[in-house]
Amino acid sequence: MDLSLQLANFHRLDLIGPPTPLEFLPRLSEHLGQEIYIKRDDVTPLAMGGNKLRKLEFLAADALRQGADTLLTAGAIQSNHVRQTAAVAAKLGLHCVALLENPIGTQAENYLTNGNRLLLDLFDVEVIMCDALDEPDRQLADTAERLEAQGFRPYVVPVGGSNVLGALGYVGCALEIAHQCAGQLAPGYVVTASGSGGTHAGLALGLQALMPETRLIGVTVSRTDAQQRPKVAALQRQLADALEFTAPLAPIHFWDDYFAPGYGAPNDEGLAAVKLLARLEGMLLDPVYTGKAMAGLIDAIDQKRIGPEPVIFIHTGGAPALFAYHPGV
Ligand SMILES: Cc1ncc(COP(=O)(O)O)c(C=O)c1O
Repeated sequence: MDLSLQLANFHRLDLIGPPTPLEFLPRLSEHLGQEIYIKRDDVTPLAMGGNKLRKLEFLAADALRQGADTLLTAGAIQSNHVRQTAAVAAKLGLHCVALLENPIGTQAENYLTNGNRLLLDLFDVEVIMCDALDEPDRQLADTAERLEAQGFRPYVVPVGGSNVLGALGYVGCALEIAHQCAGQLAPGYVVTASGSGGTHAGLALGLQALMPETRLIGVTVSRTDAQQRPKVAALQRQLADALEFTAPLAPIHFWDDYFAPGYGAPNDEGLAAVKLLARLEGMLLDPVYTGKAMAGLIDAIDQKRIGPEPVIFIHTGGAPALFAYHPGV
């Protein structure tokens, strides 16, 4: 099976252009005593970057094909996913409607108005506040029905962009990584934050096909292993079917010790990782996703939970939230 040919069967907008850089982090590597590389999906080229743009290349192409005039999605007030969806809608001349929740119940001014939320106003998003996104698929479907009744043609982008179409974006990322490593680098591990699961599932399928010696680890940011596993496994299965990948699927690995006290609530280890990367590499992580994922990697190296081989850390973005979480929520 040729993964790039299979991927080419799906409609895709070119929102990203050339591959994102894969960079060596010399000072962090020296500090941790292990070679660390970083895949710079934080610098995808729209609206301060991030991982969702890869998913939106496929999702927005589907929306346009269906004749949609509105992208409808949902997430936290500080969702990077909603910010990137809104930017894509603006770029394509589409209306954007977002259901937002406050998952940590904070009234901190910066959380409510700064960071990603500030950018939603610039993109002219129609925001609908919800008490809780406890059944997001149903809430999105209900809102889509209301919008249709008003004469709009909405396209629902699921939470985190994580359905099979969105996750194809991270099969594409695995292709980039495999090309960038070829003959240059044999990573033992790839480490990513695992939230709505599309990033993790796409990388899992792609890396299994292209770099089977490399172990992928998802650091959960909102769920235990037992809660997250069925989500990622279901997407991995759907991707395999969509791409006609017939081999038995590789096991999925999680580290679930790093997200306390819960989704969107910072912890000391994650904040320390944000500071460490800033101080050593001038690199901006975030308190919700990449800080916690990096905290997991640092701890795994300290505790010798992984071997000495080089590691690729997927920088999935999120730095705009730094402004929302200051001076602490
Ligand atoms: C910065 C950042 N990293 C990681 C993730 C997790 O990606 P996924 O939802 O595909 O698991 C997200 C999702 O919103 C994100 O915004």
